[in-house]
Amino acid sequence: MPLEGKCVVLGVTGGIAAYKACELTSRLRKAGAEVFVIMTKNACQFVAPLTFETLSNHPVTTDTFARPETWEVEHIALAKRADVFVIAPATANILAKMACGIADDMLSTTVLATKAPILAAPAMNTGMWENVATRQNAETLKARGVHFVGPEGGFLACGDTGAGRMSEPGDIFAAIEKILCPRRDLEHVRVLVTAGPTREKLDPVRYITNRSSGKMGYAIAEAARDRGARVTLISGPVNLPKPQGIDCVKVNSTQDLYNEMMARCQEHDLVIQAAAPADFTPEKVSEQKIKKQGDGKLTLILTQTPDIAKAVGKKKRPGQVLVGFAAETENVTENAESKLANKNLDMIAANDVTAAGAGFDVDTNVVTFITKEKTETLPCMPKRQVADELLDRAARLLSR
Ligand code: PMT
Repeated sequence: MPLEGKCVVLGVTGGIAAYKACELTSRLRKAGAEVFVIMTKNACQFVAPLTFETLSNHPVTTDTFARPETWEVEHIALAKRADVFVIAPATANILAKMACGIADDMLSTTVLATKAPILAAPAMNTGMWENVATRQNAETLKARGVHFVGPEGGFLACGDTGAGRMSEPGDIFAAIEKILCPRRDLEHVRVLVTAGPTREKLDPVRYITNRSSGKMGYAIAEAARDRGARVTLISGPVNLPKPQGIDCVKVNSTQDLYNEMMARCQEHDLVIQAAAPADFTPEKVSEQKIKKQGDGKLTLILTQTPDIAKAVGKKKRPGQVLVGFAAETENVTENAESKLANKNLDMIAANDVTAAGAGFDVDTNVVTFITKEKTETLPCMPKRQVADELLDRAARLLSR
């Protein structure tokens, strides 16, 4: 039983997805975990506490103030006892409370007191999930180390279609398992990851760049760290928090990235290049802001930047594994295959950056992994999951 001896505290908040938390409770118990459920008052409108009591085999905690003589002891006891604290479904309201440190009921009080890893499975209307307040609360919580699973896109109970559906119990279970029993298959492996765009300066106020957010590369760096690797992340300018436990190097231009890669690539066993370096840079950087021209036109002369992956490929040492990405808009497989050969890579992750849910600045990706031996296309999945799929394959290549 994979979760034998583990204690899961499951917070259930008020949303229709609360019924799926019943299946989650049952799966956790079958896997050997002890489950304690805390329900908000609103959650009790959707599912009766008796259901969770029966499934968890423990009394359900519902109201901080029902038993004033015991509640303080109880919330601290559960907070301390948890090996993982899961909130499923997590409404916009509980995310907001957690982001602000508000403790006004049993669930918010207990989650504030816990030192256990926290996993949130958001579920709400698309408008609520996309609201800037919720986005910021989720980003704040992520930056503090709260894990998220979902929400998924699809048909919502309110009749809308879009992001906001709680992840399926199986996916939440897998995320819990990952937190409680992390794989350490990359211990002693030194991993170098590149992420984000580069900026090519035109004048003191302008630059050429692209839409890379860094999400794909950061997800890979974090997944490798969680699997025990020693990770160096070379990142272009992005709006993502610096990941903990990872050696981060910031670069600006493709030439900067080239310099850092040339200095570091050989020290690493696995090199994964998810960055989107600009392929062209202005031949001349104007010292002053470029003024409007009289004829209403401006001609820029661009020169090609160094092909970093190719240069890394030339320096490849025996036993080293090199993985690249290919951002394509047409002939995806053919173009990626020629990059695989040209850059002396062991594997390339091709993404059609025009496909829905794939490529630049989204939380999901659709990739085709290509090696000399095989080509595998994966369905659309969160970038973190793509990262683990990529690392599974890279680990196999390393052990050859
Ligand atoms: O950052 P996100 O918003 O999460 O988006 C993710 C992504 C779309 C950027 C990522 O999935 C991706 O596809 N990264 C590679 C982007 C790219 O530059 O693709 P390319 O086909 O132009 O380059 C092929 C490979 O050569 C890449 O590994 C790239 O890092 C590398 N390269 C490119 C140009 C250059 N001058 N030097 C390089 O080494």
